[in-house]
Amino acid sequence: MKRIAVLASGRGSNFQALIDAIGQGYIPAECVGLVSDNPEAYAITRARSAGIPVFIVDYSRYSSKEDYEAALLRVMQSLHADLFVLAGYMRILGAGIVRQFPGRIINIHPALLPSFAGLHAQRQALEYGVKVSGCTIHFVDEGVDTGPIIVQTCVPVLPGDDEESLSGRILKEEHRCLPRAVRAFCEDRIRVRGRMVSIVGEDSASPA
Ligand code: GAR
Repeated sequence: MKRIAVLASGRGSNFQALIDAIGQGYIPAECVGLVSDNPEAYAITRARSAGIPVFIVDYSRYSSKEDYEAALLRVMQSLHADLFVLAGYMRILGAGIVRQFPGRIINIHPALLPSFAGLHAQRQALEYGVKVSGCTIHFVDEGVDTGPIIVQTCVPVLPGDDEESLSGRILKEEHRCLPRAVRAFCEDRIRVRGRMVSIVGEDSASPA
């Protein structure tokens, strides 16, 4: 059984989707920790309700990004996780951390990468005027939202959409795509050749 750890900065609805998928037996893994840079994150409450250990590395208590990341790295190493999932982790993970866990960190992004990387992806999509957006699950490399893509799903941008309505439509798909990608990882069904990622034996089963 794989050990997964989740990094989240806020609401944690994607984290909850993982907790539920593990609970339903859809993902064969143990969640060994929730790590948050924000002591106010609702994800912390979700972890405690699910009996998942919480590790707070409060960004505001460090005088530099280097110090913060050194502390974060220590926590991540102590978890001995096979996979780290960035589920609404709203900071850029430094190269020093990414290099420690090659191919073992994945991120969820609320747009169809490589479009609209970085913050406020849904707002960027609306302002650009695209007719389709979506979500992307990808491996984390040293760039910003640039790693190899594991899963993408699109959603329409509808007339009259605002950031909230589009974000909500994308979020529903995030809650399906993230467990699917994590399940494939935990079942050793992901193959990576350069930027090309395939999932072996993909089926249509998804958590209820
Ligand atoms: C999600 O929409 C996720 O894709 C996004 O933050 C939200 C977190 O929601 N992540 C990013 O924008 C990363 N750059 P959640 O806390 O309810 O899972």
